[in-house]
Amino acid sequence: MTHQIFEDENIYGYQGLTIDIYFAAHSAYCFIDVYYDEILRNGPKFYLEPDNVMNLLMPWFPNNIMTNLHEFKDCVKRDEPDYIYGECVDCFTNTNEEGKMTGFRIINCDLSTSGFKEFHKRFQSLIIMFIDAANFIDLDDPSWRILYLYEECRIGNKNKYCPVGFCSMYLFKDITTIARISQFFIVPFLQRLGLGYKLLDATYNYLKSTINDLEEITVESPNKIFTRMRDNLDISYIIDEPYFAKYELFKGFTDNMLKIARLKYKFSNEQARKVYEILRCYWSQSNPREYEKFMLDVKKHRKAKFMVTPLNLESNKLLQLLQMKQSKSKGCNKYNFEERLNLSIMLQEEVDKFVHTIQSTLRHIQKSFKTQ
Ligand SMILES: CC(C)(COP(=O)(O)OP(=O)(O)OC[C@H]1O[C@@H](n2cnc3c(N)ncnc32)[C@H](O)[C@@H]1OP(=O)(O)O)[C@@H](O)C(=O)NCCC(=O)NCCS
Repeated sequence: MTHQIFEDENIYGYQGLTIDIYFAAHSAYCFIDVYYDEILRNGPKFYLEPDNVMNLLMPWFPNNIMTNLHEFKDCVKRDEPDYIYGECVDCFTNTNEEGKMTGFRIINCDLSTSGFKEFHKRFQSLIIMFIDAANFIDLDDPSWRILYLYEECRIGNKNKYCPVGFCSMYLFKDITTIARISQFFIVPFLQRLGLGYKLLDATYNYLKSTINDLEEITVESPNKIFTRMRDNLDISYIIDEPYFAKYELFKGFTDNMLKIARLKYKFSNEQARKVYEILRCYWSQSNPREYEKFMLDVKKHRKAKFMVTPLNLESNKLLQLLQMKQSKSKGCNKYNFEERLNLSIMLQEEVDKFVHTIQSTLRHIQKSFKTQ
């Protein structure tokens, strides 16, 4: 994930290079130690200066690199882990694989709290190493909202808190408000313990309970893992809704489904449809007739989407082909046999890809299902 820092994820000019990056557990101040066995003097690019590792790292750790170990140790000693920047919106306990129970708090951080922006600038450096093409946000824009996940522990007779994840959201305000989840991160050593679910659930609840005119919650360029987590959570919300019951699903996607998904859960149209398709796929799997009907429904929907709202699919091969053909035929919408064949193959490829994604989600959501 370091391609933003080091071109092609390569560092030139060293033998046995090691970069150690330490974060103070509470304040997220950072100590970076760079060491190597030797500088390459006779490699293939011997005429080049070795890369300046610190200079390359600097922009991604704004005002937050300490290179003096003593200075860093002093800073860690001064850390105040009994302080958190905001109000608690949720708390829960979690048991790890070894049976150890830990408390967690989800904090709604107020951007105007003294010191918070500087703290977030330090902590968010972590995402550069764990989210592909991650970006920092402009904290001077008041439309940002940030929830932090803190791990809680008791040292002596005091509660101590350490930040272990966060979610940032941007509010687009027009007549109504659309919230877009932007950065979402759980520290690697606490991943796969269900904390991502908890934070996402708390994010939905926070947005729904604090923004009166909230219209929908969207996500900015979600990756595969996040998408799976979101789909799982969305399904767990909707699965008990009568409009999404097994036999309702077999009838096709209805306005009532869309209405409940949008009004009650703030799903986007695409997400409402996706959740419906996942559920319908699940219930159709063991019934070949229903499965065939489901596949036809998916194909019909994809086809309609390509033809009617091609703007959703700017990078899609099918759209490019369509646009090419349309401009060639100067507005005339007729394709020859070969072109139609190409379109139909591409459409089928899209459908297969989509169903493949659904199938892989299904393998991970079995626990959300109850016998209906
Ligand atoms: C994505 C992320 C937030 C998930 O948080 P998490 O606490 O590990 O997730 P959870 O333990 O709550 O698991 C939620 C679901 O996510 C999926 N998931 C989580 N980690 C996964 C992994 N390594 N591989 C595949 N699926 C994974 C699973 O579907 C899981 O549900 P399951 O355990 O029932 O199968 C976390 O992995 C992370 O911070 N990754 C790096 C940053 C990132 O990619 N952020 C998303 C940017 S859009």
